[in-house]
Amino acid sequence: MTLRPLFRTLLPILLSFTAGMARAETADIERRLDALMAQMTLEEKVGQLNILSGETLATGPVTFKGDHATEIRAGRIGAMLNVVGVNSTRQYQALARQSRLKIPLLFGQDVIHGYATTFPIPLAEAASWDLPAIERSARVAATEAASAGIHWTFAPMVDIARDPRWGRVMEGAGEDPYLGSRIAAARVRGFQGRGLGELDAVMACVKHFAAYGAAVGGRDYNSVDMSERQLFETYLPPFKAAAEAGAATFMNSFNDLNGVPATGNRHLQRDILKGQWGFTGFVVSDWGSMGEMVTHGYVKDDKAAAEASILAGSDMDMESQVYGKHLAELVKEGRVPMATLDDAVRRVLRKKFELGLFDDADRFADAARERSTVGRPEFRQAAREMAAKSIVLLKSDGRTLPLSPRLKTIAFIGPMVKPARGNRGGWSVSVPGHDADRETVSQWQGLAERAKANGTRLLYAKGADMMGSDRSGFAEAVRVARQADVVVVSVGESWDWSAEAKSRSDIGLPGVQEDLVKALHATGKPLVVLLSAGRPMVFDWIAEHVPNVAYTWWLGSEAGHAIADVLYGDHNPSARLPISFPRSVGQIPVYYNHFNTGRPATDGKQEEFKSGYIDSPNAPRFAFGHGLSYTSFAYAGLRLSTTRLGARDTLTVSLDVRNTGERAGDEVVQLYLRDRVASVVRPVKELKDFQRVHLAPGEVRTVSFQVDRDKLSFFNDKLQWVAEPGEFDLMVGAASDDIRLSARFELLE
Ligand code: NOJ
Repeated sequence: MTLRPLFRTLLPILLSFTAGMARAETADIERRLDALMAQMTLEEKVGQLNILSGETLATGPVTFKGDHATEIRAGRIGAMLNVVGVNSTRQYQALARQSRLKIPLLFGQDVIHGYATTFPIPLAEAASWDLPAIERSARVAATEAASAGIHWTFAPMVDIARDPRWGRVMEGAGEDPYLGSRIAAARVRGFQGRGLGELDAVMACVKHFAAYGAAVGGRDYNSVDMSERQLFETYLPPFKAAAEAGAATFMNSFNDLNGVPATGNRHLQRDILKGQWGFTGFVVSDWGSMGEMVTHGYVKDDKAAAEASILAGSDMDMESQVYGKHLAELVKEGRVPMATLDDAVRRVLRKKFELGLFDDADRFADAARERSTVGRPEFRQAAREMAAKSIVLLKSDGRTLPLSPRLKTIAFIGPMVKPARGNRGGWSVSVPGHDADRETVSQWQGLAERAKANGTRLLYAKGADMMGSDRSGFAEAVRVARQADVVVVSVGESWDWSAEAKSRSDIGLPGVQEDLVKALHATGKPLVVLLSAGRPMVFDWIAEHVPNVAYTWWLGSEAGHAIADVLYGDHNPSARLPISFPRSVGQIPVYYNHFNTGRPATDGKQEEFKSGYIDSPNAPRFAFGHGLSYTSFAYAGLRLSTTRLGARDTLTVSLDVRNTGERAGDEVVQLYLRDRVASVVRPVKELKDFQRVHLAPGEVRTVSFQVDRDKLSFFNDKLQWVAEPGEFDLMVGAASDDIRLSARFELLE
């Protein structure tokens, strides 16, 4: 009682004290930076802008033929990637100590969904719509990676993707700029924790700047051509949110945007990122993307590539080696101002200071901390919870799931059941001293443990391979299925079929897996299909005929446990699709926040002269925001604080959500808006907020949202962020295609 007022008095003093300390620290860093810059030769400056991959692991085409040790000692390498573990990072850092100025190296790594403890792929985590959980996942990844000497993760990938043919859809948060922005910020907070310099924080690297996800035809590295308005409205918001969350670095992208490769794109990097958004960190190129500007046909040779890149604002050269070869010369020739080079170098060195590397280059690389941190049991637990939160229940007959503990026999069938590797997906790190496959709980292991505890017999048949046309295992699978009370079949995409350079033209279930499901379905046994993949697949027959379907993505180290948790109902599913699932490849791109057009089609109706297909509905198979639970929720009592909103007012929207089923569960209540008439046409629906509520059976909770001017604003044709007076539709629902309550309000002049 007495503490509170005291705290209130002390808080501002404390805050101004810490702000003062931060200012002093910044001033100190700038002083040290000035002193260091003054000692550096032109070549040493250029060296700081060069990042090369270590010798043992490559995540791109290696072209470097020299000797890393010689280059580091000569001060020609400022950062490295693909150097994993305390032992290795210490060895390289020791070489840097032999260089004239002893400038420490930075170690970056693609820690995309966990380090040794693998979490679900980012698209799967996005399906959780659970921001604290996503932040925690990034926190765990950072804690493990930082303890192993890594300073910097090449994540989060925040590319909006509306084309599931693109293999990299797995690395992002799906199709929606609002959800994508919230998740981007959560991941940055998770990676950077309490701030750079903390021993459990790594620098985030927001990628790929920009519009990489809109590659034509879903082909990786491909071109993008889009209006500036679409860029700002759809593709840039997650980048901006990540920058605002304090992301230390950005990575540019392979694609050309409106004819200018992103790496040489001054408009993106200088005008928008470093200009409008005031980004003070550094930008690294993507692997070889500077040199590739020659292949793009944008510059004539490597020297011109170096010039175009640095002038455009790309600070660090990953693997092209064009800076190392040409930048010093370009400065001497006066083609690149020294001030431009200095700015890039200062941006990089500043981060090394902030990380505390000049005080102790090995401060992150501590073998004892690495041993006691990597793979901690509580991290495994977090991975298990995250994985369970990522599983989307797409269909349920309300009887088969959750599985009853009293079942006598379950048949667990399919090529995804036994192998552990498949569950880790692409971009999982090989950590020295860890056998990732052995440390991954297979689906079989997870379900077998649980079945055994219940006294249920678990039978197995593989049925088919993931690929190929061999049907010889079908008969055995059907025989096994006939002996069971329930059949769970697990099929999907091989772990190396989604990720970088893994675009597909046919995103159906590979091989004869769908036929296997058909054969099992024909037994008439209660059937559950689990689908594991890195992208939305097309599985129309299954979606149409199988009554119980769950999307299990690639769930990471704890996949098997998490799947058992959901199948048995220990975890009531609450995930929602962060991306539309098409019925066919021909529907792509399909996304919920499309415009109405002048001739909107009505699905299910045969209409002439409408914007649709004659052979397919427009609606996707499963819509953005869709996902079921083992319980049900009712929405009622929509209340708006006003239906006539003043220009500076905030609208409060409330409603009551009731758990009408018999199990406790989480509902993700989604708020969508539509601006009915505007100076540029607006989408039929845009997600503007969401809330996760946990409700006991029968419990009612009031959910409230605030709609301010920002939520009503958009980029007009002059790219001004404006809210125009007029009518808005407000929709609240359980999915973009499951609106439960709606109202209209007016924004006044
Ligand atoms: C190329 C990828 O596009 C990028 O995302 C990744 O971080 C780098 N390679 C480094 O592995």
